[in-house]
Amino acid sequence: MRHAMESPADRITAELVLPNLQTRVVGKTLHCFDSIDSTNLRAKQLAGAGAPDGTVVAAEHQTGGRGRLSRAWEAPPHSCILCSIIFRPALQPEDLFRLTMMASIAVVDALQTVAGIRAGIKWPNDVYADDKKICGILTETECTAQAVQYAVVGIGINVNWHLKGHRELGGIATSLSDVCGSAISRVKLFQKLLRRLDMRYGSLHDRAGLNREWLQRCMHLGRPVRIVSDERKALEGIARDITEQGHLLLESADGRMHEIICGDVSLRL
Ligand code: ATP
Ligand code: BTN
Repeated sequence: MRHAMESPADRITAELVLPNLQTRVVGKTLHCFDSIDSTNLRAKQLAGAGAPDGTVVAAEHQTGGRGRLSRAWEAPPHSCILCSIIFRPALQPEDLFRLTMMASIAVVDALQTVAGIRAGIKWPNDVYADDKKICGILTETECTAQAVQYAVVGIGINVNWHLKGHRELGGIATSLSDVCGSAISRVKLFQKLLRRLDMRYGSLHDRAGLNREWLQRCMHLGRPVRIVSDERKALEGIARDITEQGHLLLESADGRMHEIICGDVSLRL
């Protein structure tokens, strides 16, 4: 069955996306699939086989979409942005969080330009709108002791999907169409996202600038948050800052500062 807001003229295909893309690195090679297990999985296979820096894998549907902490990532066919980008950055392994930072900034800016919405970043890897999750980012890396072989940055954006009232996700997730009240061109949004990623990738070495831009878009700074780990242990406090390597600085009620590595923890507002 066709999704209510699906339009055949708005498919993520090379024919529709590549004209006038005008990027330097990101999307110079683009693989589009109608249905695939996971774009991250395919991108990792391609990267292992030597695919160039900036290669993009996109899909109209994933049968095994994956989120952080081994969760499943849902999206009805032809409704969302589901893509993964292969990067081969000149970064030390400990600096790889900068790619996730760069991607979340690019998503926030693309949403603002194409749909006029003001979204915010929730550490470590989510983009929120109207206090609900609109985008998730999953960065997976292949490194040797000293060098980065490749990183795959997977981005899922909920676009034309009626999530209000959705049984499992309605309370925690939203989509662009829910926020804007009308369908948004996925092709335009995808092109803008690739251009923004391309632009930001060019200035990845500007550590202080990237950190500043990320903090400007961050939604939880100065707010009370709860850090939840797998073992259901929670740490409460005020989110004070983020280090240049992406660690969260949390101030607990006793005034102590905790440096938290994203690893297997989640932040709750
Ligand atoms: P994170 O660990 O990334 O910080 P979280 O622990 O704060 O996330 P939420 O982002 O609040 O968790 O929860 C979202 C849940 O819904 C996750 O389990 C996520 O995998 C799942 N999910 C599946 N598909 C979607 C989607 N399209 N949009 C939003 N959430 C989704
Ligand atoms: C998260 O919030 O936990 C991250 C979600 C990442 C989902 C995207 S959709 C495209 C890419 N392919 C995947 O299997 N996952 C990412």
